[in-house]
Amino acid sequence: MSNKTSKRSFVESRHVASMEVSSTLLVLMEAERLRAAGADLVDLGAGEPDFPTPPNVKLAGERAIEENFTRYTATGGTAQLKRAIIEMMERGFGTGYKPSELLVTAGGKQALFNAMAALLNPGDEVLIPAPYWVTFPEIAKFFRAVPIFIDTEQESFLLSAEMVRSSITPRTKLLILNSPNNPSGRIIPPTEFRRIVEIAAENEVMVISDECYLQFAYPPARPFTAGQLPPELRANVMVCGSFSKSYAMTGWRIGFALGREDWIQAMLKVQSHSTSNAASISQRAAEEAAKGQQESLKYMLEEYRKRRDWLIPALNRIPGIECQTPEGAFYAFPNVKRLLNAGVSDSAAFAKLLLDRALVVVTAGSAFGAEGYIRMSYANSLDAIQRGVSRIAEAVEKMNL
Ligand SMILES: Cc1ncc(COP(=O)(O)O)c(C=O)c1O
Repeated sequence: MSNKTSKRSFVESRHVASMEVSSTLLVLMEAERLRAAGADLVDLGAGEPDFPTPPNVKLAGERAIEENFTRYTATGGTAQLKRAIIEMMERGFGTGYKPSELLVTAGGKQALFNAMAALLNPGDEVLIPAPYWVTFPEIAKFFRAVPIFIDTEQESFLLSAEMVRSSITPRTKLLILNSPNNPSGRIIPPTEFRRIVEIAAENEVMVISDECYLQFAYPPARPFTAGQLPPELRANVMVCGSFSKSYAMTGWRIGFALGREDWIQAMLKVQSHSTSNAASISQRAAEEAAKGQQESLKYMLEEYRKRRDWLIPALNRIPGIECQTPEGAFYAFPNVKRLLNAGVSDSAAFAKLLLDRALVVVTAGSAFGAEGYIRMSYANSLDAIQRGVSRIAEAVEKMNL
């Protein structure tokens, strides 16, 4: 046998090579390294609730195991969970979907992946308003589609129908909406949402509405789902939802897609040849989350709101930082351009500086297509947030603006 090593260590597809490792994960990895080395970090980088899964939901998972509910289920989800999701959306938003218009997935991410898998061909253009969640363009690229970004910075990160209209070309296949938005926390008002979908429909552009933060709208802001649109408009939209954030269930991996039957059927086909059904145990837990007491959800929302109401004014008191009040989700997205002018090259360098000098984990805005900003998650205790902000204030003071 030859002992010559191959020049190629493994076979890598060209389009996978063009994808980037999730930059939010890179921050977590670096933070993990420092934590393992014993550093006292304040983690404002993570995009997941700091709360445990509510007890009634955990119990439903335990029961599922005890009752040996541990086998394959229908690929698209159990009939009971599907009913529970439809009723949850009906109760909250009056949406009225049919079971055939619903697919249960392993997290919202798989709903997005399947929706794009079923729709996109190489060369199709996908409109993605910036700032955006890092995964949107990477999934589009996976299917050899072309992400086209719509910069919303000039409008305080609020997407308008006009911006969408002027970005559509004959090659545009898909528009991705994400309201409440990660990272900006902006919520598209219902009238504008409707106009955006109308313009998409007029141009035969399909829409994915990532509503994974749907429950996270802080009064007076109100949540709005594309499921509330009139049927002729809704026919163009795939709603992608998740239990991860609203029920503190990130590790259980349950999401869903709601939309027209033919699109759902195509997604089901994709799923049947990849992961099959979402975990049976998690489906039982999600059923309880959707049907059971909603007090935990209300409690968590109120806690996030209190943290936000402390965090935003505190950030605005730091010289060089400006932050608008997010209406939803659990992220602050402050503008730090004045600090960058004062010697740090870009938002990634600033995030690194905060990690090194203040031991605070934040995510660079460049990861979300918005240079000059950083994302801070307030899915952490108020105490941790307060420590983090005072460390940031100290680090900024030493920058000698
Ligand atoms: C905007 C957005 N969509 C979807 C997801 C996916 O969440 P999951 O796959 O856990 O449901 C996330 C997670 O961070 C997100 O921020």
